Amino acid sequence: MTTSSAPGKVYLFGEHAVVYGEPAVPCAVGRRARVTVEERDDDRIRVEAEDLSLDGFTVTYGDDPGDADVNVPGDLVAAATGYVDGAVAQARDAADAPDAGFSVTIESDIPLGAGLGSSAAVAVAGIDAATRELGVELTPTELADRAYQVEHEVQEGQASRADTFCSAMGGVVRVEGDDCKRLPDPPDLPFVVGYDGGAGNTGELVAGVRDLRERYDFAADAVESIGDLVREGERALRGNDVTRLGELMDFNHGLLSALGVSARSLDAMVWAARGAGATGAKLTGAGGGGCVVALDESDATRTALEYTTACETAFRAELDTEGVRRE
Ligand code: PMV
Repeated sequence: MTTSSAPGKVYLFGEHAVVYGEPAVPCAVGRRARVTVEERDDDRIRVEAEDLSLDGFTVTYGDDPGDADVNVPGDLVAAATGYVDGAVAQARDAADAPDAGFSVTIESDIPLGAGLGSSAAVAVAGIDAATRELGVELTPTELADRAYQVEHEVQEGQASRADTFCSAMGGVVRVEGDDCKRLPDPPDLPFVVGYDGGAGNTGELVAGVRDLRERYDFAADAVESIGDLVREGERALRGNDVTRLGELMDFNHGLLSALGVSARSLDAMVWAARGAGATGAKLTGAGGGGCVVALDESDATRTALEYTTACETAFRAELDTEGVRRE
């Protein structure tokens, strides 16, 4: 039996635009998905998940998840098993063990589909645990690459390398196309996350931005402007200028909002954070619902978010400099 964990992330800057080759800066935070894997005597896959901010479930299936023996609604199973399936396929390939079967247990304190990279963390930790269980040890870079293949397939070709690279490596990272690296010596980033209890549909949101960008030059300009502000943000990171980082986060939220990926709940949380004195606040991830991220050293933003009707829960999220690890 092998357990690995990998962190979730917040986007300091650059989601959506990263899909079109602009740079993005996601940061790993100390909320993790833990995946435990045990090799089976047969070639089936059994998935058990108890803690995905949703009712727990168990599902066992062979090659085709369509035959699944299931105790919960199909869309939830499809969401979770898509990533587990992909992780198992990658592990079988890496270990040259096409018939390996596994019992997989997922425990996660990252809300599902809420912009904190839950699926990337499950894919990274799942590939790491399953390959180790088969006696193969991959480097974090190899894990990031294989987890990206999983996201790419599940999200039907609409994924960047940002979430999976960040989850595998930890810390503050910069992703531009296939070029991914960790940024050295980031300043202290006092992240506060507000969560509306919901989720956005990443595929639909990405498709919406694609459509706007094709129809309007100014939407394409907004995507390019996000790239410009990310480059400006990198200079602010190098200069430890947290005030400027906050200003750029506010700007980034405005551009994402113009591209149609914010939501009433996310805007309400962003304004509550700003009203409480946060240095900056924006949605994180695909949008449509889920989480916002703010910078605030004091506890005022977290408290204000907790009193905001749109917010289900708010918490401090420490930067996690460690990526995937064996538990
Ligand atoms: O909501 P998340 O955490 O899955 O982030 C999606 C980020 C996008 O830029 C919208 C898509 C991507 O693959 O980069």
